[in-house]
Formats: sequence, structure tokens, C-alpha cells
Amino acid sequence: MTSGETVDLTGLQQAFPYLRSGDGAISDLGRELVIEIRKNGPMPFRKWMARCLYDDNHGYYARTGVATVSKEGDFMTSVSVGPVFGRLLAERFFQFWKANDSPTQITLLEIGGHDGSLTKDVIAAVTEIDADFAKAARHVICEPLKKRRSFLQKSLPDDVRVVESATELTGEFGIIFANEVLDAYPLPLYLKSNGHWHEAAVNEDLEWVALPIDPPENIPENLPEGYVTEGTPDFRGFLEPLAGVFEKSLLLFIDYGLDEESLYHPARTAGTVRCYRKHQSNAHPLDYPGGQDLTADVNFTRLGLAAQDLGLQVSTPMNQSRYLTYCGKDWLMNAPSSAEVRQFQTLIHPAQFGNRFYAVEMMRGDCRSGFPA
Ligand SMILES: C[S@@+](CC[C@H](N)C(=O)[O-])C[C@H]1O[C@@H](n2cnc3c(N)ncnc32)[C@H](O)[C@@H]1O
Repeated sequence: MTSGETVDLTGLQQAFPYLRSGDGAISDLGRELVIEIRKNGPMPFRKWMARCLYDDNHGYYARTGVATVSKEGDFMTSVSVGPVFGRLLAERFFQFWKANDSPTQITLLEIGGHDGSLTKDVIAAVTEIDADFAKAARHVICEPLKKRRSFLQKSLPDDVRVVESATELTGEFGIIFANEVLDAYPLPLYLKSNGHWHEAAVNEDLEWVALPIDPPENIPENLPEGYVTEGTPDFRGFLEPLAGVFEKSLLLFIDYGLDEESLYHPARTAGTVRCYRKHQSNAHPLDYPGGQDLTADVNFTRLGLAAQDLGLQVSTPMNQSRYLTYCGKDWLMNAPSSAEVRQFQTLIHPAQFGNRFYAVEMMRGDCRSGFPA
């Protein structure tokens, strides 16, 4: 396309048809971003998403004094359902520990622990499951945001370590786990207009513009005019530091997502980027900078390929319903309370967390999975 040709933005307007908010749409972060855009030109969506979520001062996840992930906040995760999710993951970690001859030390490293709830639930469960396992387990949370790290350090028991980067750790055995972290990994947003691909960006009026680009890698060529979709986040950059931490490790990622064929299906014309605010997903991604969650489905095909490239053994994604049922085999036989059973039902129910969420396991080094399937 020649520069100067007008880009038809209808595809983006149809992908995000929500009424823009009036008062309150511009936040402190919004004002900073407008100044930056005036200086440097339109900001690609991937950078917009990164700043809105992870700006050190005003990013959505840097805010520690307000409810975000909870019933009272903007969205629920499996962790907010109650401690049973942590219990079931702890059961899985116990299976891995036992399958590898019960090492005397094993690090349980949570990535993106947010308010520490999942690690707290895992610690309580590990203590109940087995005294030797509890003695062997070291608990660590990796959290890149400084404000969130200091919040976590204050709210967690002293023996839980909080690190900025997983590379601060070493050890023979480790389990690395993350729930709903990959869906918040900044990614590019694309629009097909006039037969050419463009990258969606934000102008100083906080409106969409589209910048011409070469055809993005991995996206089929024959998609219809006005098609909006997202590219692949830097999964390799995310996994590489994790893959090298322990000589032998199990990595577990749980999130909503799909395979690449479904993501780039010609009928999925609006991609999967969306935002959450007060349990509603009908806000506009360019409103409330820093005041709402921005997210996209995880492309499990690319995640798996990035892991294989790094030499990890990767399992086929399994839906949460099946995965947690396997993890909880022994726990289920042990007469959980009715409150616990209700939580379990929510976690595996197809209309709640059971079908939309998948678990992907990866392994590094000479170790045994111990997965009871
Ligand atoms: C949606 S929250 C996680 C919610 C929590 N795990 C749960 O299940 O309730 C995402 C968290 O991941 C953190 N995060 C984002 N990128 C990260 C990275 N590369 N490494 C570690 N944590 C990250 C964010 O700061 C935020 O605290």
C-alpha cells in the first residue's frame, strides 16, 4: 500500500464496538501516554497493553490497594473460587515429587502470584498432604512489578521468597506454575484493510490508527477484508529464563486459550483481545488506561512450539475439568467437605472454569512426570 492511502478502520470499530466512556476515561497514566504519543507518534497496541498493565506506577497490576482479581474486583480466577484449586495443584506437585524419589529439596515457584493467595493455598495444602513433602518444599513467587513485590513481601510468611526474576534462583528440582499469567502478556493487534496488513496503534486522541506492516508471521494470507486478530506474544522470551532455572523441573501453565487454527479461523473476525472491568467485558481497550484488565486467549500452539524450541517436553493441553480431576484423584477419595466439593464443581463445570481453561505441562531434564492419567 502507498503511504497516504486511507486505511479503513471499520474492522477495528466492529471488533470493539463499545461506546467510549466519557468522564473518567482519562487517568493519570492516560495523560502520561498522551504526552508520550505526542512526542513519539502513534503507540502500537502491544506497547499500549504493556504500559496499561505493567507501568511501574500506574499500571493495572501495579495497583495494590484496590480489588482487581476477586469477587469484589474486576474478574475472578480459579484461585478466587477458594483454596481447593491450590489444594489440587499441591496434589499434582506431590505426585511429581514422589515420582522423582522424594528429593530432600524442591522449589515451588509461582509466576505472577498477584496477591499471594495461590501460594498461600499451596503451602497450607502441602502441609496437610505430607510432612516430608512440606519439609522439602521451598516457596517462591516471581513478580516483576516492584510495588507488587513489596506488597507480597509484607503479606506473605517470612519463609516465602519474592523475586523479581526467576534467574535469581538455582536448584536441582523445581516446579514452576502460573495461573492466568500468559493471557496478560502484551501482544500486537493486526487489521487487514485494503488487502494489506496493518498494526493497530493509538493516537494522541486515544483513538485507533493503523500502521502499514509486512504480512505478520504465522497468520494465513487468505483472511477476509476488515479481519482483526492478534499476533503471538514473545513466549520464548517468557519461557527461556524459566527453562534454565532448575536442572529438573515441571512447568505448569493454566489459562484460557485455543489452538492456532481456531484463532486464525476466517470466521473469527475480531480476534480475542478484550478487557475486564467490574466483571463486564464490554469496555473499550483504549478506555481507562491502567484501570482495566487487558487480555487475550493464549495461542497454545505457539506456546508449545516455543517450549519445544527450548528443549522442553510439552504435554498436549488438557481442559481444566479433566486435569484437576486427575490431580485430585486421591483427594476426592478422601471425603472432601461439601464446601470443598462445591468449589471443585465450579472449577470443573463446563460453563464455568472447566472447558475454557486448559493446563499445559512441560518438563525439563531427566525426570518423571508422575501424572496419574
Ligand atoms: C491475572 S494476574 C494473576 C492472577 C493469579 N495468578 C490468580 O490466578 O489469581 C497476573 C499477574 O502476573 C504478573 N506477571 C505478568 N507478567 C509476568 C512475568 N513475566 N513474570 C512474572 N509475573 C508476571 C502480573 O504482575 C500480575 O500480578
